[in-house]
Amino acid sequence: MRSSYQTITIPTLLLSLIPLSHGSAANSTFPKRGLCYIATDHSESDSHIFTTSNSPLTWYYNYSPWPGPSSSLAQWSTEFVPMVHSASDAAASVDTIKAILNGSAGIPLAASSGGGGRGNRVTHVLTFNEPDGDTSTGGTDSAPDHAAQVYIDTILPLRAAPYHLQVSLPATTGSARGLEWLRAFNVSCFRRRPAGGCAFDFVAAHWYGDLAGMASWLGTLHALYPAKPLWVTEFALPAAPAAATQAFFNDSLPYLDALAYVPRYAWFGAFRSSGGDGNEWTGDQVSLFDGHGRLTDLGAGYLGGDKDGFHEGESASNSAAAATAGFATTTMSWTMCLLLACSVVANLGWLL
Ligand SMILES: *[C@@H]1O[C@H](CO)[C@@H](O)[C@H](O)[C@H]1NC(C)=O
Ligand SMILES: *[C@@H]1O[C@H](CO)[C@@H](O)[C@H](O)[C@H]1NC(C)=O
Ligand SMILES: *[C@@H]1O[C@H](CO)[C@@H](O)[C@H](O)[C@H]1NC(C)=O
Ligand SMILES: *[C@@H]1O[C@H](CO)[C@@H](O)[C@H](O)[C@H]1NC(C)=O
Repeated sequence: MRSSYQTITIPTLLLSLIPLSHGSAANSTFPKRGLCYIATDHSESDSHIFTTSNSPLTWYYNYSPWPGPSSSLAQWSTEFVPMVHSASDAAASVDTIKAILNGSAGIPLAASSGGGGRGNRVTHVLTFNEPDGDTSTGGTDSAPDHAAQVYIDTILPLRAAPYHLQVSLPATTGSARGLEWLRAFNVSCFRRRPAGGCAFDFVAAHWYGDLAGMASWLGTLHALYPAKPLWVTEFALPAAPAAATQAFFNDSLPYLDALAYVPRYAWFGAFRSSGGDGNEWTGDQVSLFDGHGRLTDLGAGYLGGDKDGFHEGESASNSAAAATAGFATTTMSWTMCLLLACSVVANLGWLL
């Protein structure tokens, strides 16, 4: 589906990562649940609500190798998962990930063991978004054979020393075309690299449709890769009436929570139901925010509802205050990092 990788700008992305003491991924009521961050005109302000201390979300991704772009998001004490969005941007994206990991990008990462949460660690990388899909619907339209060579050249080194990252299989569309792409990719991978092909650590899947279809698609992928964990990085029932969408939401989340081979999932999507943010392909009913940036019933439910203290109609601005309060304790390092980010802006024009 649609991603907004191209609309993310460097100055906002360079806001630094500061591990905060709040945030309790370790004790989340929904430890598999993550945020698929979609850049819209309102998402920087709306996303504050995801990063409050009682948010159950344990990880996020944003279709790019950089954390952010919202300052609240970039400082969130939960795990960021960078994405190498397409075969065509792979070399630059992988360099960015390496620069974050080796410290040269000036983004401080949390110590891997501290705090009990997963704050600002980078341990996993998502690769190639819908390579079998057309660019007009957010796909990256790569020939499997070309993608295989790029994967071998750029992605595989991330699995080795000194990075040791867990990398995903490219996330195709949930369709026969996606399956055919994966088959052709695998053939090319073994032809180009007979010893091991395009090794990967986990599968990333997308699904748009009903629950029976999702169960079938995930089952198909699990049968192909029985030893690999499977992340559902986009899913929703698209273009359906509100009641059907809500029923799918109500049924699919517990289904994934209980599915042993799925360690993580992210609902699509975190955008407003109207006012220019709506996604023309999925329709408005899947939105986590209403037209004013207040949580829809789905938005409140995704954040754990009453159990975690989130209610339909709650707006991000209320919660932004809480998030800001947490930053006060780290003013000193925050300021230093802003300065660092500025020098990175000045020096790293090569990044985009
Ligand atoms: C998680 O819960 C345990 C037991 O209730 C508590 O001791 C611990 O501090 C909590 N951890 C975090 C990160 O909130
Ligand atoms: C860090 O990684 C970047 C990107 O690959 C590279 O250009 C830079 O030389 C590396 N710096 C160090 C200190 O290893
Ligand atoms: C990938 O290709 C290899 C080599 O032909 C084959 O052994 C393996 O079963 C294939 N894997 C999948 C998932 O198709
Ligand atoms: C979905 O769950 C919510 C919260 O439990 C409930 O209010 C709503 O009626 C349910 N909707 C459907 C269509 O099952």
